[in-house]
Amino acid sequence: MITDVLIIGGGGAAARAAIECGQKNVVIASKGLFGKSGCTVMAEGGYNAVLNEKDSFEKHYSDTMKGGGYINDKKLVDVLVKNAPNEFKNLEKFGCIFDRSESAEFAQRPFGGQSFNRTCYSGDRTGHEMIAGLMEYLNKFERIKILEDTMAIKLIVDEVEENGKKLKKCFGAVFLDLLNGDIYPVYAKSTILATGGAGQIYPITSNPKQKVGDGFAIAYREGVELVDMEMVQFHPTGMLGTGILVTEAVRGEGGILYNKNKERFMKNYDSKRMELSTRDVVAKAIYNEIQEGRGIDGGVYLDVTHLEPEVIKEKLETMFSQFKLVGVDIRKEPMKVAPTAHHFMGGIKINEDCETNISGLFACGEVAGGLHGANRLGGNALAETQVFGSIAGRNALNYAEEKIDISKVYDSVEKYIEKLKNTFKGSNSGNNVYSLIDELKNTMWDFVSISRDENGLKTALEKINEIAGKKVLINGVVDFSKKLELENMVLVSKIVINSALLRKESRGAHFRNDYPKTNEECTGNFVAVDGKINFVKIE
Ligand code: FUM
Repeated sequence: MITDVLIIGGGGAAARAAIECGQKNVVIASKGLFGKSGCTVMAEGGYNAVLNEKDSFEKHYSDTMKGGGYINDKKLVDVLVKNAPNEFKNLEKFGCIFDRSESAEFAQRPFGGQSFNRTCYSGDRTGHEMIAGLMEYLNKFERIKILEDTMAIKLIVDEVEENGKKLKKCFGAVFLDLLNGDIYPVYAKSTILATGGAGQIYPITSNPKQKVGDGFAIAYREGVELVDMEMVQFHPTGMLGTGILVTEAVRGEGGILYNKNKERFMKNYDSKRMELSTRDVVAKAIYNEIQEGRGIDGGVYLDVTHLEPEVIKEKLETMFSQFKLVGVDIRKEPMKVAPTAHHFMGGIKINEDCETNISGLFACGEVAGGLHGANRLGGNALAETQVFGSIAGRNALNYAEEKIDISKVYDSVEKYIEKLKNTFKGSNSGNNVYSLIDELKNTMWDFVSISRDENGLKTALEKINEIAGKKVLINGVVDFSKKLELENMVLVSKIVINSALLRKESRGAHFRNDYPKTNEECTGNFVAVDGKINFVKIE
């Protein structure tokens, strides 16, 4: 298959990018059902945009930088805050419906770490509303083809000479059809990665099952730079036991956290912002309460029983139903919550045009890194999908106008596919791939989650290397795809661990209990590329 633009991803950034370049031939390749397998559909709380004259771009910028521990890419932050309002209004044009205030303005709620009520929403199913509108709007474009249940397993990258210079260029990707095992290429003049993060390298996560870090891994293997990979966000409130998201909107609407002694413990961690402190602080506070024996069943309480039942019905409807299913009426009793792996701040290094260090390869959404620094503010991710999705789409479209000879890579791609098909024939001995995946996830949870130290990180590295060295039993396409996922999870985990080992300080989501303070010398970014990790200081 040959196309102008290939978009790999199943969420809001991929959909927004497709709208931007939909007048050309576009192929969207999604690992699950398009629109339903990204994180956007699950995002609940909201979208940050400066819409009120009492708010300002400067405030949104400074909240984002402060929340991110001042290692965010300033240019990306600037692009986000200035474009979030227009992109929000575009969503209305695409058919999304957002809550409004009594004066018919867009309603905005408080979210953690923000100096203004800046988070626009649609009850507590904002991402669901967004993706529904985007998908509906996409139907207008006849030249967009959607492939589902297909896993990107390799980017097609070759070295070319342009204007006397050698450079790496992307010509599309190779996919594994997850239903029938077919392995096939999609050749493209330009390619956008919008594959999301890797929450699934942890056993407790708010992310859908597809989010194992495929985008990071296939990009890294071709020499793409990954930045800030040690920065993994643990959302403070996942449903106890499952990790399913309990939206920050609960705290935005007035929900309070308390421990088993009925103490509103946030006063001991951030007495000013309390439950609306940044996620890194709230997650760490909950973690501490649990570690120090003040938790309840391995979590803490999140209480909204003091809110008017109408507020719960109108603004926290999903939460109400989610807990009702497990027999908890949140109007009458508190929820039990604990931190859950939620978001990768780190990812593919991009510039303001969503370009990567490989020509013809663009990235947007969670797979891209740098915007959020060491900790993301709630509500900035949905905005990111639209702002950077549209930029990536526009630039990939322009790039595809160039004269590009794709045929030069056909031979090498065919050879690669042939070789891979032989591996797929299987092995009738080896380890169960699911057990190995579980081992990896538990290792990451035990040693590379909220609290880290040198010994733990080194132990994790040893264990992950052991897992990587084990032979896998392959019996059919499912085992084969899981084996490929495991390889991606191993690679991503090792980059996270090695970056975490190098950052000998605590900042944002990265808490080192052997280096509990922030060190100004570490104000900069770790960039992983070609087997090395380099530190780039921010002056
Ligand atoms: O808590 C939430 O609703 C999640 C929002 C986000 O991650 O931006």
